[in-house]
Amino acid sequence: MAIPRTARHARLVPPAAAALVLGIALAGCSSGSSGADPASYPDDTIEVIVPFAAGGPTDTVTRIVAEPMGAELGQQVVVQNVEGAGGTVGAGEASQADPDGYTALLHHIGMSTAPSLYADLNFDPVEDFEPVGLVTEVPMTIISRPGLGPADMDELVSYIEENEGSITLAHAGVGSASNLCGLLLEDALGVDVQEVPYDGTGPAMTDILGGQVDIMCDQTTNTASQITSGAVDVYAVTTPERVEVFPDIPTAQEEGVDLEVSVWHGLYLPAGTPEEIVETLRASLETALADQAVIDALADLGTAPVAADQVTPDALSTRLQEQIDLWAEVLPEPGS
Ligand code: MLT
Repeated sequence: MAIPRTARHARLVPPAAAALVLGIALAGCSSGSSGADPASYPDDTIEVIVPFAAGGPTDTVTRIVAEPMGAELGQQVVVQNVEGAGGTVGAGEASQADPDGYTALLHHIGMSTAPSLYADLNFDPVEDFEPVGLVTEVPMTIISRPGLGPADMDELVSYIEENEGSITLAHAGVGSASNLCGLLLEDALGVDVQEVPYDGTGPAMTDILGGQVDIMCDQTTNTASQITSGAVDVYAVTTPERVEVFPDIPTAQEEGVDLEVSVWHGLYLPAGTPEEIVETLRASLETALADQAVIDALADLGTAPVAADQVTPDALSTRLQEQIDLWAEVLPEPGS
């Protein structure tokens, strides 16, 4: 990783433009800092930006909760995939949306790693968003294309060491969870593999299945059905304990690989969204996560909703800050 440490993005607004923006904001400001109307919210479709390609794990989790959230809110909640640059394009776009509750962002651990991985991040995960609540925490799995060869984690480690220069590792771009897990794997093994970035691990999985790329570390929300059907080979889970739906898959730690990570997801609104609107959206998320169909769908994918007391702005903001601090310590300085 050779990227200079993040310089926080400064928004420069020329004085004339600033006056114009202020005028518009004041003219529309009837019921909150954004001009949004909490009393009638929501009276239109709510768009949730997923910062990765359709068909991947973030998209899957978002679609599972979107429908019951919409039912609770009495409006459609639709997914908008804004992929690119490991989730930073979509997060950047969400940070610039009107703070009226009609554009949200569902993102994962990448909100906390991006500040350490990008020198020119175009959003500030803390300053530019109102956290709504945590959603779920997902184990990761180390998988390979069918027929790569190794029979278990031990053999995979030897294979990676012997083929360091040529083995390919798929991930969803710098800042993605699969990139983070790949970095931790490389660090644990002391190797440097060929990275192949995609716009999401949905398309990456297509290439794993097609044999175009060798290995990937990705969330069970993308790998569970391929593991169950035997379409990919699996070597380890990255959680401290084995995963309930896959009791036979060892943890990386059990296999002697010092790698532990799981992927937390959170829902955000742009900074300045009125508190009442944040609360309305939060309550719909809490209701959705208590829905038995949601619990069952997530269980099939190796995960579960967070506890109800974690579906809060405080819980998400605490997790975000803790993880920003953690990854700033762990990840190599960009440029080093
Ligand atoms: C990731 O690796 O960050 C995600 O799996 C990307 C995705 O949701 O496609």
